[in-house]
Amino acid sequence: MKVLLAHLLTLLTLATAQTINSTIPANQTFNFGKHYAVLNLDLIDGTVSGVATTSAGQAFINSTSKWINAVHNQSPKPLIIFTRIYFTTVQKPEIGLETPFGIAVAPLGNITETSAVSQIYSAFDVLDTDVVLQKTRYYAGAGNGLEEILRAQGIDTVILSGLRTSGVILSTVYRLFDLDYKIYVISNNTIEVGNDAALIQSAALNGIIPKLPADVITIEQALAALKRSGPAVW
Ligand SMILES: *[C@@H]1O[C@H](CO)[C@@H](O)[C@H](O)[C@H]1NC(C)=O
Ligand SMILES: *[C@@H]1O[C@H](CO)[C@@H](O)[C@H](O)[C@H]1NC(C)=O
Ligand SMILES: *[C@@H]1O[C@H](CO)[C@@H](O)[C@H](O)[C@H]1NC(C)=O
Ligand SMILES: *[C@@H]1O[C@H](CO)[C@@H](O)[C@H](O)[C@H]1NC(C)=O
Ligand SMILES: *[C@@H]1O[C@H](CO)[C@@H](O)[C@H](O)[C@H]1NC(C)=O
Repeated sequence: MKVLLAHLLTLLTLATAQTINSTIPANQTFNFGKHYAVLNLDLIDGTVSGVATTSAGQAFINSTSKWINAVHNQSPKPLIIFTRIYFTTVQKPEIGLETPFGIAVAPLGNITETSAVSQIYSAFDVLDTDVVLQKTRYYAGAGNGLEEILRAQGIDTVILSGLRTSGVILSTVYRLFDLDYKIYVISNNTIEVGNDAALIQSAALNGIIPKLPADVITIEQALAALKRSGPAVW
């Protein structure tokens, strides 16, 4: 009975997995300009290892790592920014433990700069020239110099990868949208976890983000646009 139920659930999950559409037609040529930054959000061991065992998670990891490598191969390299969730000490002074975000990050434990769970997941390369920022809320710019860096470097376009879609991705899309950045989200490089993951992924990428409007593109479109972009200025 239990096995049968599990099979049924798998079938249901497959049946509800929804296609993610791009906001830009496949045959339309575009590029990111010269003043773009690549944002790789919360790709830490504590979040990525949780999805690494699923085929959707492996596809996400493969696609994201391919993107990071392609961006690193640009010459000159664009501004590349990673974020990592962690707190200054085990007391997590940046949050109240009972606040909504405090409860949301409780599963990561007493996560600090040196914790294994706060390190960038091993499938993703980080170079010395990449900027790696601490962050302490959902928004990529919470508790760090993200906005200062984007402004100081004259950035006008950002390209987002990371997890979760309903957490750092949506939160960051909204805040940077209001700060007048042009935003692209690479659909293959985002993932949702937990109950109703496919539904939430589709609602965010097919519904909410295009409505702002911000762009949702595939990894294939992102790689092609990257080749047509630059030389990066910052
Ligand atoms: C990326 O996502 C698109 C749209 O869902 C899909 O058609 C394509 O196969 C994906 N590419 C990879 C490398 O997973
Ligand atoms: C994706 O695009 C196709 C073709 O335009 C459309 O039929 C479908 O309804 C769209 N799916 C979603 C979830 O928006
Ligand atoms: C892209 O495809 C659409 C639909 O197939 C077509 O109407 C349009 O002319 C094409 N655009 C370009 C730039 O080729
Ligand atoms: C991801 O990449 C690994 C190693 O290249 C490969 O074995 C695996 O089949 C890929 N998985 C998916 C879902 O693309
Ligand atoms: C986390 O830190 C708090 C405060 O120092 C401590 O009370 C708690 O036992 C720690 N929890 C773990 C899992 O280490």
